[in-house]
Amino acid sequence: MAILVTGGGGFIGANFVLDWLSHSDEPVINLDALTYAGNLENLAALRGDTRHVFVKGDICDAALVGRLFAEYRPRAVVHFAAESHVDRSIHGPGAFMRTNVEGTFSLLEQARAFWGTLPAAVRAQFRFHHVSTDEVYGSLGPTDAAFTEEHPYQPNSPYSASKAASDHLVRAWHHTYGLPVLTTNCSNNYGPYHFPEKLIPLMIVNALAGEPLPIYGDGMNVRDWLYVRDHCSGIRTVLERGRVGETYNIGGWNEIPNRDIVQTVCSLLDELRPSPAGPYGHLITHVTDRPGHDRRYAIDARKIERELGWRPTETFPSGIRKTVRWYLDNPDWVAHVQSGAYREWVDRQYSAASDPT
Ligand code: NAD
Ligand code: TYD
Repeated sequence: MAILVTGGGGFIGANFVLDWLSHSDEPVINLDALTYAGNLENLAALRGDTRHVFVKGDICDAALVGRLFAEYRPRAVVHFAAESHVDRSIHGPGAFMRTNVEGTFSLLEQARAFWGTLPAAVRAQFRFHHVSTDEVYGSLGPTDAAFTEEHPYQPNSPYSASKAASDHLVRAWHHTYGLPVLTTNCSNNYGPYHFPEKLIPLMIVNALAGEPLPIYGDGMNVRDWLYVRDHCSGIRTVLERGRVGETYNIGGWNEIPNRDIVQTVCSLLDELRPSPAGPYGHLITHVTDRPGHDRRYAIDARKIERELGWRPTETFPSGIRKTVRWYLDNPDWVAHVQSGAYREWVDRQYSAASDPT
């Protein structure tokens, strides 16, 4: 028995692989193209561990994926591989269409071909678990009810449109071909190994470097924040007990405006690593807003609790404290991911965005 994980070199995928192998000896075949967001250092703890088979490759490479299915005969696929950053999708949507839409299509086809060869009893147990986002549901007003699984799809960014497309493909492969799929739509994750182009890790690494903390627009955009290890346990729960063909929202019950997130990071750093230059809050700067910036996401995660008994264990204060500590304790990881390509992105994204007026 084994599972095939795609994108297991990225932020959530790597946390998932580490979490999986800390709970089970079932091997993980980890297929990752190692784009700018993939990093084998995330998996350094598994060096020499024969339960982890890393394969560098693209989910769009049908021949490679077909060979992996034939060789390892996984009982499940957990599909994380994606282009995941909204700002990058605004600058260059093509890569999002290729990996998130074509890649998911190609993976579904390879999974379907393999699944079709299995004996009936094994076929019934096979699962294709698609990891998606709450961003497919669009943007909420301040008093709107949180997203349930029945909320209409209203994606607003190239990223969320590409994820919405992939969710629809997964749904269709179940309805048309009977492929036993599960989809989870989760909120904004945070925690260890988060690439510092996303809000929380960017604020931590910029503050420590004495660089500006760029808040888009008025900073009152709201996200629901989910500690990544809670997300991993949510996925394990759905994979184990979720009803085939269903989607489950996974959220942290932590709706927080960006401004408060950045303030919290600054306060924790003031406590844990005070700067001789004074409180980190002085580095906060409001910059030009993201085009089409969704105002509010909120997840109603009652279905997964009701049906499967899952709830997150971290509160935001406990999770963010662990996260900040992790970045303070792992300066080498931070230094290594801030490569030339990373600097190029930061220069490109923030050089023109310095003044909202
Ligand atoms: P990430 O960008 O950190 O990692 C993505 C991984 O996929 C990287 O390791 C990358 O190398 C790999 N990859 C990209 N293109 C590939 C390809 N063509 N073939 C093989 N591998 C490829 O992303 P993440 O934050 O870990 O997100 C993982 C999944 O969870 C994504 O599907 C994302 O849409 C979803 N999600 C993320 C969040 C979040 O807050 N980060 C929230 C909701 C849903
Ligand atoms: P991000 O981490 O990119 O996740 P997403 O866009 O998928 O929600 O951004 C989280 C929020 O933080 C979002 O409202 C945009 C905002 N943001 C900033 O204000 N400044 C930044 O430099 C970044 C990267 C994000």
